[in-house]
Amino acid sequence: MNECRHVAIIMDGNGRWAKAQGKPRTAGHLAGADNIRTVAIAADELGIKYLTLYAFSTENWKRSADEVGYLMKLPAYLFGRYMEEFLQRGYRIRLIGDLSALPAATRKVLLDAAERSQANDGLNLIIAINYGSHDEILRAVNDYAADVAAGRAEQGIDEAGFEQYLMTKDFPPVDLLIRTGGEQRISNYLLWQIAYAELEFIPEAWPDFTPEVLRRCVDEYYGRDRRFGGIKNE
Ligand code: IPE
Ligand code: IPE
Ligand code: MG
Repeated sequence: MNECRHVAIIMDGNGRWAKAQGKPRTAGHLAGADNIRTVAIAADELGIKYLTLYAFSTENWKRSADEVGYLMKLPAYLFGRYMEEFLQRGYRIRLIGDLSALPAATRKVLLDAAERSQANDGLNLIIAINYGSHDEILRAVNDYAADVAAGRAEQGIDEAGFEQYLMTKDFPPVDLLIRTGGEQRISNYLLWQIAYAELEFIPEAWPDFTPEVLRRCVDEYYGRDRRFGGIKNE
C-alpha cells in the first residue's frame, strides 16, 4: 500500500464562494485563510506528513492591485492568529516560491514562521507563494548550468540530482493532488512533483473544504491502485 504522505492542494474557488454569498472576493480569501488551520489539523490527524498549499501563483499578479494587496496581507493574519497553536502542535512551516518578489513585510512574516518552527518534526505545512512550476524548473536549470560552468557539478544529471535543484528538494513526491473549486487543471503547480500523484478535482470551494471532505479524498486515494507503470497489485 502506498501511504498518503504528501498531499498538495490547489486552494481554488474563494472568489466564487464569496460572490455566491453576495460578499466581496476578499471575504472568500479571509475564510480561506482560516480554513488553512482547520485543514492542517485534519491532515495531521490523518497521518499526512507533508501538506503543500497553493496560496499564490506566479500568474496571480495579473489580478487587481487591491486583491493582490489583500492576499499579501494574509500570511500576517494567518500566522498572527494561529502560529502559537501551530508551534504547540509541532508543525513546521516551510516555503516554496520566489519570495524575493513579495512585499518585504510579507516575506518577513513568512520567513519568521519558518524559522520559529524549524526545530519541529510534526506536520510539514508548506506554503507555495509566488510559486510557479515553470519558474521553479527554469531556476533549477540555470542553477545547475551555473554549477557546471563553475566546476561545482558534473555534466549530465540524473533525476535525483535534478530534484536537489528544485524548491521541493526536502520533500517526498506528491501522493495526492486535490483541486477544490471545480476546475480541472493544474495551473502551473508542482509539475515535476506530481508525475505519479493521484489527482482529485472536487466541486467544493476552498472555504467549504471541511475535514470530512479531506477524509473523503484520502479514502478515495486509498481505494486507487497506484501502478507506477507496473501491473496491478493483487
Ligand atoms: C483561490 O481562489 C485563491 C487564489 C488563487 C489566490 P480564487 O481567488 O482563484 O477564486 P475563484 O477561482 O475566482 O473563485
Ligand atoms: C490557482 O488558482 C492558484 C492558486 C490557487 C493559488 P487560479 O484561480 O489562479 O487558477 P486559474 O487562473 O483558474 O487557472
Ligand atoms: Mg481561481
